[in-house]
Amino acid sequence: MEREAGAGLLALGAAVGWLLRPLSPPLLAGLALLLLLAALRWLYRLCFAPLQLLRAAHQVGYIPEPGLSKCQAAGQVRRRRKRGELPPVYPNGWYRLLDSLQLRVAEVKNITILGEQVAVYRGQDGQTYAVDAYCPHLGANLAVGGRVMGNCIECPFHGWQFRGEDGKCTKIPYAEKVPDFVKIKTWPSCELNGAVFVWYHCDGIDPSWSIPEQDEIQSGEWVYRGRTEHYINSHIQEIPENAADIAHLSHLHTPSILSGADLRYTSARLWGFAQHDWKVEWNPEPEPNNHCSRMLVNHALRILGHHCSLLDVRVVARQVGPGIVYLLFNHSFLGHGIILHCVTPVEPLLQRVTHSIYYQANMPAIIPKFILKAECIQFERDVMIWNNKKYISKPLLVKEDSAIARHRRWYAQFYSPNSPRFTTQQDNLDW
Ligand code: FES
Ligand SMILES: [Fe+2]
Repeated sequence: MEREAGAGLLALGAAVGWLLRPLSPPLLAGLALLLLLAALRWLYRLCFAPLQLLRAAHQVGYIPEPGLSKCQAAGQVRRRRKRGELPPVYPNGWYRLLDSLQLRVAEVKNITILGEQVAVYRGQDGQTYAVDAYCPHLGANLAVGGRVMGNCIECPFHGWQFRGEDGKCTKIPYAEKVPDFVKIKTWPSCELNGAVFVWYHCDGIDPSWSIPEQDEIQSGEWVYRGRTEHYINSHIQEIPENAADIAHLSHLHTPSILSGADLRYTSARLWGFAQHDWKVEWNPEPEPNNHCSRMLVNHALRILGHHCSLLDVRVVARQVGPGIVYLLFNHSFLGHGIILHCVTPVEPLLQRVTHSIYYQANMPAIIPKFILKAECIQFERDVMIWNNKKYISKPLLVKEDSAIARHRRWYAQFYSPNSPRFTTQQDNLDW
């Protein structure tokens, strides 16, 4: 086998040499320089550019049957999974729309959130505004061809303009007077920690709590080093519940990240020499922060059974409301930083989950990029479970699982009697 590989390489070298023979030495030197520049560019991007890892809904955790694509397999899993008794699908709270970096001044974007279309734009004053995307006149989508005029958004169809602050129509180009009642729905929104968020309450009640600012992001002490994005085929509650499911850590997340995210191969002997160790605790926070909870994590790495204390990491995962988590890292010499983990329902059983990392500006970008990549591998193991599991309203729990039951009681505060529930007609299989 090795002899064959060696012969193959020799043949390849000879073929390349033969192809390059007619080239003059200056041309060869130019080619070598181009190759060197490409290698330097790759190295520069690896060390300094932010990581960007975006996954579509069918890309993680589906095992297609012969003859099916991954996309078809994802649709099949959704169809055959029996829906148990599900909690309401849209908890009340703040949800991330997009990162601040994704919206320039006078830019407008269409975002699907909670089964609705939202047009989010940045006015000339630099403020972000979120309004219903569909124009109340004849239903054109303001984010598709609409223009930002000052702090208003202009509809691409007949040019009506709406003010971002209160949704009031300020101009109808062909009408003598703008009737007072002409308005578009605005979403309470805020921009902080490098992202734009909107508030949702099924009864239209104003925000009852606000998102805490992370000072180090606001001051620029911690800088943006990358993000990941996943679409997950599950009920929203499954994702935060993971924090209180302490037992899964020492099973699902113990194999080394070297063995990857595909659960069929994570127990491969090849990578058995390295293992993660987790000590975890989950508790709700007391009043007035009862919309928050905390998971304290002590991570250690064992190599060939020996504890490698240099890789001890302490993480505080603070859940703020139903869809935002602050993962604060503290490492003795790799420094400090945060991953903002946001879960946003796109439709009843489809979640968009993003992780954005901010890290000490004086640390080389490759360190936070490695942390984010490692987190992403562990997270994708959970994604493979969520994408294929069903929600069980009365799970069989043992004493050691008690935090899961406590988490369900805590999370129930985000539902109201009018919170929308899942109906089978909503199960759109078209993604
Ligand atoms: S549909 Fe928007 S102005 Fe007519
Ligand atoms: Fe997990």
